[in-house]
Amino acid sequence: KKIVILISGRGSNMQAIVQASQAQQWPAQIAAVISNKPDAAGLAYAASQGIPTKVVDSKSFASREDFDTALMHAIDNYQADLVVLAGFMRILTPDFVQHYENRIMNIHPSLLPSFVGLHTHQQALDAGVKFHGATVHFVTAELDHGPIIDQACVRIEHGDDENSLASKLLVKEHVLYPRAVRLFVEGKLVVQGNRVIVNGSEA
Ligand code: GRF
Repeated sequence: KKIVILISGRGSNMQAIVQASQAQQWPAQIAAVISNKPDAAGLAYAASQGIPTKVVDSKSFASREDFDTALMHAIDNYQADLVVLAGFMRILTPDFVQHYENRIMNIHPSLLPSFVGLHTHQQALDAGVKFHGATVHFVTAELDHGPIIDQACVRIEHGDDENSLASKLLVKEHVLYPRAVRLFVEGKLVVQGNRVIVNGSEA
């Protein structure tokens, strides 16, 4: 299977996926890492691993539709079986999402369906919840919705702030996301309505 990973910045989740794919010898290849930002730090890591990299600069397109079309062509050029959004900070058009139905996933730093959108750590603190987390889900046209593949959680402790929560959670994300991608490339994920089943059992 061929995986294309989309990033906008640091790319630490991308790095965790690349490392897991190598260490665990997945039946998959990271075909490319594509960024919508030319200065994304993660591009250098991908290149250092011999992974093809490409920039589709979102600033150089007049409309969202034009950008998404260019991005789609770039992805399809690598014959991707799976598109992995890893810190990819762009809202995608319904046509784009439809094109990759059930083969595009995202990681969102909250326990969905709570706290969609940005500043999720602050949203969790403001809501006073005791558990916060991250969600890997298939992408649908509605932002931060779509069938949930897996989640991980952390307890919110007295004294936690946005930064401490973000870093506690990142450690969990780096285990959660590679595991979810691995299940996909092994053909073990089945989408049934809003639910994702792993090999006959609930994910
Ligand atoms: C992660 O916290 C992810 O959940 C969110 O953005 C951050 C990306 O970090 N969508 P990185 O680029 O993978 O290091």
